[in-house]
Amino acid sequence: MSRIQIPRGTQDILPGTVEMWHHVEEQIREICRRYNYQEIRTPIFEHTELFQRGVGETTDVVEKEMYSVESRGEDALTLRPEGTAGVVRAYVEKKLYGAPTQPVKLYYLGPMFRHERPQAGRLRQFTQFGVEAIGSHDPAMDAEVIAVAYRFYEQLGLRGLTVELNSVGTLEDRARHRVELLEYLSARRSQLCPDCQSRIDRNPLRVLDCKVQKDQELTKDAPSILDYLSEESAAHFEAVKQYLDSLGISYRINPRLVRGLDYYTLTAFEIKMQDIGAVETLCGGGRYNGLVAELGGEDVPGIGFALSIERLLLALEKTGITLPVPEGIDCYLVTQTPQAKGVTVRLLDQLRQAGIAAEMDYLDRKMKGQLKAADRLKARYTIIIGEAELERGTAVLKSMDSGDQEEVAQDQLVDALLGKLGDK
Ligand code: HAM
Repeated sequence: MSRIQIPRGTQDILPGTVEMWHHVEEQIREICRRYNYQEIRTPIFEHTELFQRGVGETTDVVEKEMYSVESRGEDALTLRPEGTAGVVRAYVEKKLYGAPTQPVKLYYLGPMFRHERPQAGRLRQFTQFGVEAIGSHDPAMDAEVIAVAYRFYEQLGLRGLTVELNSVGTLEDRARHRVELLEYLSARRSQLCPDCQSRIDRNPLRVLDCKVQKDQELTKDAPSILDYLSEESAAHFEAVKQYLDSLGISYRINPRLVRGLDYYTLTAFEIKMQDIGAVETLCGGGRYNGLVAELGGEDVPGIGFALSIERLLLALEKTGITLPVPEGIDCYLVTQTPQAKGVTVRLLDQLRQAGIAAEMDYLDRKMKGQLKAADRLKARYTIIIGEAELERGTAVLKSMDSGDQEEVAQDQLVDALLGKLGDK
């Protein structure tokens, strides 16, 4: 029979690697505890309309990358390509605007799905950690959200990160900018790449984000959104910069930074790392002051970011950072005679109930084979029960580190081992 392979752009995370994920997940929960973000879990699929309305009809994500299914006569459903739309839907639907503590600060961690061309750091199923702070206009909130991502990376040991910062203005700011931008782009239309030619009509701002070198040169002197910000928008941007300064987080203003999703207003940012391959953006986010209303709620502002664990691990790997992951088990029970098996099974259960990570042989290995297995599992202790010990109701407790061993009564074994493990 032919083998069935894993779908393109997905990953199996095997033992040996999954421990790194656990470590990262712990760091996420820890940083969110400190910054006071609470976890929210929303469905992995939502009504397709949520993303069409929330993320935007003309975005690549909605136009080309969604995994959607007709759902047995019901509305079409889509595997979530990102987390913000679902969180805002839940915020409106579950009336979180009425929650006693405001602003509502949430985080999420889970799989997202985009039908993209797979490469290192770009998958079809990837895992986002994201935060959303909903209900505050305060530019200090923007700085905090950027700080959560930045400090998170720092905590894991990443250095050499660049925060790129822009303001994409309000809808009104953008409308004024758009007039001039359209004029500028239309004059160069025929020289732009085919994608950009159609972007001009649908979403001209996105042309500035084109990765094609020639297009970048052609649009070098395009009108900058930053010159079209209202006084209020400009003041917000200034304040965000000042807060970042006082946090000691350096940033680079990039007036061409346009995010790939339509809901952004005012602050937009990305965190990048050079030299990690084709995909250098580790994290992206920004303000979305119109999204709650767009999804049927009141006019409530929000800001957030998302980053993928896959890109984070890639960045760590490229930088040569290894995460501290726990290795090995506490204890391996070696059975020397078949008669001792019943006792071994019982002792093993007692050890495990006491919180000790313990294992025994299930492959009828000889003593030597069992000791080898203990070694491979990096067991810190072995417990050996031979005929003599069985008769005496004892076991030999041996440290694999020092080789020291002692005979212990079986009913004292848990306490003895707990004592030794605790000493470490
Ligand atoms: P995004 O820029 O589309 O924004 O994605 C955010 C991050 O998700 C990226 O910077 C990258 O780390 C990761 N990512 C995206 N696509 C892939 C992929 N195919 N493979 C691996 N990683 C990927 C959002 O999703 C917004 N919801 C962020 C946000 C939250 N804005 C406000 N709140």
